[in-house]
Amino acid sequence: MTGIPGDLSSLEQVREAFLFLSERLPASLQKPRVAIVCGSGLGGLATTIRNMPRAEFDYSSIPHFPCLTVAGHAGKLVFGLLDEQLPIVLMVGRAHYYEGHSINQVTFPIRVFKHLGVDTLVLTNAAGGLNPEYAVGDIVLLNDHIFLAGLAGTHPLRGPNTEEFGPRFPPLSDAYDLELRRQVHRAWREVMDAKSERKLHEGVYAFVGGPTYETRAECRMLHQLGADVVGMSTVPEIVVARHCGIRVLALSLVTNNAVLSPVPRGDDSRIQEKPAKELDAILREGKANHEEVLEAGRLAAIDMQRLVVQTVSNTFNHD
Ligand code: HPA
Repeated sequence: MTGIPGDLSSLEQVREAFLFLSERLPASLQKPRVAIVCGSGLGGLATTIRNMPRAEFDYSSIPHFPCLTVAGHAGKLVFGLLDEQLPIVLMVGRAHYYEGHSINQVTFPIRVFKHLGVDTLVLTNAAGGLNPEYAVGDIVLLNDHIFLAGLAGTHPLRGPNTEEFGPRFPPLSDAYDLELRRQVHRAWREVMDAKSERKLHEGVYAFVGGPTYETRAECRMLHQLGADVVGMSTVPEIVVARHCGIRVLALSLVTNNAVLSPVPRGDDSRIQEKPAKELDAILREGKANHEEVLEAGRLAAIDMQRLVVQTVSNTFNHD
């Protein structure tokens, strides 16, 4: 055992999950090159994969795989061929730290992907927009992150380092692959309808533990620190992927705009005569909720799907 006792990221447990999958996969799907993590409402990507050959596994059937607890998030691995020749694996639904999994459990699948032969990881997620130029429905290509929990020590690589995976002190100054980002901008021009209002941005993602959405003061703080979007996933997986040498592409769908203005004061003269019902309406403006996040995901899912498929196709056709 090279990990800490009970550490789900230990090499042996990764090997068990790997063996479980490889014993069941048809030969043509044994070695996926690309893994795509589908965020909230973005599981439709699985429909872009042809039926044959195809293999699906519920997370609950795979040894040590973290299972999901959130409504609206399925939980299965789908193996198939993109463009009828590129073997890929999709994670439809992902485990989040806020569900109670340890940060090692959340990132466990990434090391299984590495064992399977994955060299490119594409992550999608739903996120709150902090940058005032971002609108709901826009897509943000991540080029950096702020991992406050990681900086404070809640980090997926904490503990004895498993050399088989990667080095003790991996650099993250170039975590978000530049060539893949270039491919995303190209693919965007190819797939997006010129009349669409949807915009593509590049920006910085701040990871928060959740499950509460942020307060206004927290949003202002994250924005002042340099973050453009905020969300509850992705960064731990990116850290583990970079540790084991997988190149990374990450896309956020802006599902809601974080409120940056301070909450109204109780002694504000403009609200003194208002009935309590109207106060509620004032406070409701900009309040994030899970249904809104899922709805924005449904509307933008098709564009996100096309962007990811086009990017991956272009990248591997030019390989
Ligand atoms: N904050 C954190 N996570 C999120 C948000 C948000 O506003 N929207 C979607 N996921």
